[in-house]
Amino acid sequence: MTIELQSPLDMHVHFRQDAMLRNVAPLTAKHFAGAVVMPNLVSPIDSLERLLWYTDQVKQATEGELFDPYMTLFFRDYTREELVAAKPQIIGIKLYPAGATTNSDRGVSQIHTMFGVLALMEELDIPLLVHGESNGFVMDREKEFQVVYREIASTFPKLRIVMEHITTAEAIGLLDEYSNLYATVTPHHLLLTLDDVVGGLMDPHLFCKPIAKRPEDRQALLTAALNAHPKLMHGSDSAPHPITSKECPGCAAGIFTAPIILSLLAELFEKHNALDKLQSFVSNNAVRIYRLSPPPKTVVLTKSPMVIPANYHGVVPMWAGKTLPWSIADFG
Ligand code: DOR
Ligand code: ZN
Repeated sequence: MTIELQSPLDMHVHFRQDAMLRNVAPLTAKHFAGAVVMPNLVSPIDSLERLLWYTDQVKQATEGELFDPYMTLFFRDYTREELVAAKPQIIGIKLYPAGATTNSDRGVSQIHTMFGVLALMEELDIPLLVHGESNGFVMDREKEFQVVYREIASTFPKLRIVMEHITTAEAIGLLDEYSNLYATVTPHHLLLTLDDVVGGLMDPHLFCKPIAKRPEDRQALLTAALNAHPKLMHGSDSAPHPITSKECPGCAAGIFTAPIILSLLAELFEKHNALDKLQSFVSNNAVRIYRLSPPPKTVVLTKSPMVIPANYHGVVPMWAGKTLPWSIADFG
């Protein structure tokens, strides 16, 4: 038995820089035809100069693979000239509330002060990608951020807004309320609840932002993904951290899934008799929403077991040591 996917895409991934970039980017580029690369480096990608430098680094790291990196800028108060110059080089601009997650210190504190940039992005048709969490109680942060989504979606009705890595039933509801709201969801939020992270022995490799939520939230996300909700896209938020930053006090947020994503999704969609929806979830929806032409790449999975390695170059993947029934047989 095999599954054939045409040009699978990862609409949210962290590649980092230097050795980490060279180690992790090829893992994504092997299995995917394209990926949206996040800009939260230690000094964020927030100028055309840094963007061109980073694009070049990503291209070097993924050389030889049939793979398009879709680059993003880190949101700040860009001028019209800066936006016009950057537009051909980017798929969108990523907004982080200040301090919400890894390397987001230079994020936004007051959304209203940013309405000028949002108006320019709407006019220039540059999508806005958002890490949607307030700085309230950790389980309520996504829910509390809904007021911001509502306000920007209604104030800028032509701005395409992507709610990144949604984790709640409420976020799925919002998708149907505003025509200009879209979302990505991660494989791990389709599989985990908070119980998996801290319900028994604490598992740092399942700790991420936004934190996994309640069973009913996971169910709502899963139902939407398995039905290939037309406004929902796969974005893994695969976020590598060295083992020393995960297995320590002050554990960094981020789950590393890049090399196992398609195996995880194949198992999940098969279990729920929804394999016919997987193509839309991992590619077609994103192609339509972002108007992409990814390179033609066929990825074949076969039912032969894959044991998840203990680590990839010192980065521990989700569920290390577990066996998954599907593995990648071929790509090209
Ligand atoms: O868990 C996370 N890790 N969530 C994010 O939003 C950022 C990411 C990272 O960069 O490590
Ligand atoms: Zn992310």
